[in-house]
Amino acid sequence: MSRMPAQVRDLIMELPDSKIREVSLNSIGKPGLIALWFGESDEETPEFIRDAAKAALDGGETFYSPNSGIEPLRAEIRNYMGRVYGRDLDLNRFTVTASGMNAIMLSFQALVDPGDNVLVVSPVWPNCSETIRIMGGEIRPVVLDERDGAWSLDLQKLFDAADEKTKALFINSPGNPTGWMMSEGERDEILLWARKRGIWIMADDVYARLVYDRAHAPAFIEIAEPEDRLIAINSFSKSWSMTGWRLGWITAPAALEHDLAKLNEYNIAGPTTFVQHAGVAALRDGDPYVDGLVERLRRRRDLVTQSLGRFSRVRYTPPDAAFYAFFAVEGMADSLKFALRLRDEAGVGVAPGIAFGQSGEGYLRLCFASSERALSEAMERLRPYLD
Ligand SMILES: Cc1ncc(COP(=O)(O)O)c(C=O)c1O
Repeated sequence: MSRMPAQVRDLIMELPDSKIREVSLNSIGKPGLIALWFGESDEETPEFIRDAAKAALDGGETFYSPNSGIEPLRAEIRNYMGRVYGRDLDLNRFTVTASGMNAIMLSFQALVDPGDNVLVVSPVWPNCSETIRIMGGEIRPVVLDERDGAWSLDLQKLFDAADEKTKALFINSPGNPTGWMMSEGERDEILLWARKRGIWIMADDVYARLVYDRAHAPAFIEIAEPEDRLIAINSFSKSWSMTGWRLGWITAPAALEHDLAKLNEYNIAGPTTFVQHAGVAALRDGDPYVDGLVERLRRRRDLVTQSLGRFSRVRYTPPDAAFYAFFAVEGMADSLKFALRLRDEAGVGVAPGIAFGQSGEGYLRLCFASSERALSEAMERLRPYLD
């Protein structure tokens, strides 16, 4: 690839490409390929959400949005947060964003100075870490342990990783790619520690509703005080099958409302107006859809778990949440090469563990938000490589 070193900042030139995208390059939509590499459901967005977008378009909702989002959506977010987490949060705590990814970017733009470091519970979706790098921050991975069939976070290790330059902790629970979920006790301890140290918590809650043994994952927002240094990230992508719409929201202390509005202005000049109206419908009428999706995902998780359990080279902790199987493959030295081979020889697209940081090497990630037919076929195709 040709480069223009004189014009592009070194920091940007040195950014690695997403290795998930690298595996999928030139292969999206290839006939016969079963693509389980991206974190998205194979279901189209539900009709009632599509209808809301069409009605908004036909009703003339084609103009710029207020920077923090349209009032009906902020009000619906408030209702939703009240319903799910039992907290009555003021409207000025919400900023609508053009996706969860954009919410992460705006938040790090607000918080991270060059030279700051951010603790990142890892392995983690690469976009979360790279955003810190773009801001000139240092990523400090705090690696989850996989022990006795469970992922766990060593809190002492987390606390010891912080120093006077630590600005924030990025914690994605339920986690992509591991499916690890923070317990209530861990949440309480982390919040107390962060308060004492003056460290921001960035809680990536985009999988909060895709949980198999309870209604939602334990969240900081349930127990935080309004002035706590907490930014919670949410997205419409996963729970309402809206990945292509690019819509999310931030819940932050009210003191950040104005600064986040400025950043929304200078990044995108406000999220797409008619898409926000679709978001209103998703939050207002979407609970039955989310419940149904979780039930479908549960069956798919069980199918994948059964198959992976039979493969002799695989070590696997089935997730309690999110829609990924993240499994270690015995003897696999290079997960990127192996994923490319599975793509080309088996016709199955998975994400290489190395895409999620060094701690992910040795693993593959498979998104099981696809039909049971596709998953069964994928498992048959993978058998010769994993058994
Ligand atoms: C952990 C995590 N956070 C945030 C996102 C962002 O989702 P979106 O930008 O589609 O809202 C994703 C998407 O895969 C994710 O896995």
